[in-house]
Amino acid sequence: MAVNSLDPRRIPRHVAIIMDGNGRWAKAQGENRLFGHVSGVDSVRETLKCARELGVEFLTMYAFSTENWGRPQSEIDGLMQLLVASIHSEIPALCEKKVRLLTIGDIQQLPKDCVESLQEAALKTSKNYEITLVLALNYSSRDEIIRTCNRLAEKVKKGMLIPGEIRQHDIESELDTAHIPDPELLIRTSGEHRISNFLLWQLAYAEMHFTKVFWPDFRGEHFIAAIADYQSRERRFGKTSEQLI
Ligand code: FPP
Repeated sequence: MAVNSLDPRRIPRHVAIIMDGNGRWAKAQGENRLFGHVSGVDSVRETLKCARELGVEFLTMYAFSTENWGRPQSEIDGLMQLLVASIHSEIPALCEKKVRLLTIGDIQQLPKDCVESLQEAALKTSKNYEITLVLALNYSSRDEIIRTCNRLAEKVKKGMLIPGEIRQHDIESELDTAHIPDPELLIRTSGEHRISNFLLWQLAYAEMHFTKVFWPDFRGEHFIAAIADYQSRERRFGKTSEQLI
């Protein structure tokens, strides 16, 4: 799939990715799961580069879910160390390529060195404008919605919101993704066909692209194929085909 087969006027503004299959990929090579995650960082870098070159404005990646705390402690520790090491080594490239880094999820519950490196990277890249990389960390959609409901309840208590008058905008402005447009496209790798508690509110009208490729093998060509698939769909938002003409 070549880049010039894409319609440059219909590049999605926001693409979200569930990076899946690191463990199975590693096992198939006779390696441990962490080797799969380490290799997956190359796929993150390559995908970000491709997305930026295509003009995608936001790229959200599901890096650690609230459910992932149930994994073996050695894998959790390895993932956290990988995150800190990757952030530190990538900051200069993020700055050079004008990539802004944001997070969604309750990051305060991550190890202290992770929180500090994420905050440092967010601060150093805050003025960048080419593309925003959003890392979902200690994230799940239900957890985000619960935290949002609690904030809305606080606003009601303070008289800033009136029960019965809460609108879509009031909810959206309290989600972790406030100021981030909804993704038009969700990609999930490794052949699984699930949303797995990811951006349930925000994906309401997203197109879904599922590929059998394991995340460590995912490259620009696969990203381009996903965008081509997206461009082949007719997005009707509840209307009929005739109404779209
Ligand atoms: C899912 O594969 C992958 C993860 C839970 C972790 C993804 C994290 C990375 C690729 C590293 C991120 C690093 C940065 C800097 C963003 P899996 O382990 O569930 O694979 P399996 O389904 O084959 O077991």
